[in-house]
Amino acid sequence: MVDIPFPPDAVAERLLKWYDQEGRELPWRQTRDPYRIWLSEIMLQQTTVAAVIGYYQRFLKSFPSVEHLASAPLEAVIDLWAGLGYYARARNLHAAAKLVVEEFGGSFPQSLAELQQLPGVGRSTAGAISALAFEQRASILDGNVRRILCRLFALQQPPRSAVAEKQLWLWAERLTPQQRVHDYTQAIMDLGAMVCVPRKPICEQCPLRELCLARQLGLEQQLPLKQKSKPVPTRHEVALLLEKAGSYLVRRRPASGLLGGLWEFPTISLAEGENAEQKVRLLMNDFAASGELQPLGSINHIYSHFRLELQLYRLSVVDLSQVGEGGNDWC
Ligand code: ADE
Repeated sequence: MVDIPFPPDAVAERLLKWYDQEGRELPWRQTRDPYRIWLSEIMLQQTTVAAVIGYYQRFLKSFPSVEHLASAPLEAVIDLWAGLGYYARARNLHAAAKLVVEEFGGSFPQSLAELQQLPGVGRSTAGAISALAFEQRASILDGNVRRILCRLFALQQPPRSAVAEKQLWLWAERLTPQQRVHDYTQAIMDLGAMVCVPRKPICEQCPLRELCLARQLGLEQQLPLKQKSKPVPTRHEVALLLEKAGSYLVRRRPASGLLGGLWEFPTISLAEGENAEQKVRLLMNDFAASGELQPLGSINHIYSHFRLELQLYRLSVVDLSQVGEGGNDWC
């Protein structure tokens, strides 16, 4: 382990003093209820605070306790998640709520090992729940903390490499204080979100600036080192916008897989060399729909691991008796 070139307590001391003055007031910070804290941590994975707040509040209105969530149908959970992205989180959330109710009698477990048995809870999220809800001396290593530690210690390795991962966890654990673990955890998240930001860190406002090795070396904008990104494949699909009296047909996607359980315009994938219009006619056959197809062009969307090019065709119908039942609806 690379040694820490200052007393480890110096970080928590400075960070907590800063947090007392500058820390954000966020809806999940007034509670120690593990259900609420777990929910916020899952929602905040790969998602900004600004995007999460409304979802968090609506979700809690519908599901005020883990029991409410566990007994809800999965579709109701997915519908409340719609728009937040990374939908496996909603499915995991529902499965985890059932596990808490059925295996842990409705009380969240407190140990890191048991918390990590819950679907969607990895080492860092388990650390966050443990520190925030139970005030246990547990550490986190999310994207913000990773960036802060890479700069603080001027780590010259790709931050996702196995060597870096091990080193970063050791530092994260060494810096976590014995006291005020809840506040320390929130504070380091705030520092990453407000000051030690990815592109242009605002070092003049940083409570750790005198300790920061990247700053001493003039490397604060170069670190963390960029990870080599893999080429992103493109998928091609065709969607049918079936319109009747101003409403459009939507159907539920299968529960598992990409965007599982969400509503979509009926969509079909298009292989290299296939004709889009012929493909969309297969969808029309599914609904026994006929009429003149109107090409609307295409939209592009970037997901985490691929790019989607979706060609759109509109079809107006007057009557379509088979539709509007089962997994289909008009909106
Ligand atoms: N990101 C992950 N967890 C968070 C929290 N509790 N507060 C703010 N941002 C976060």
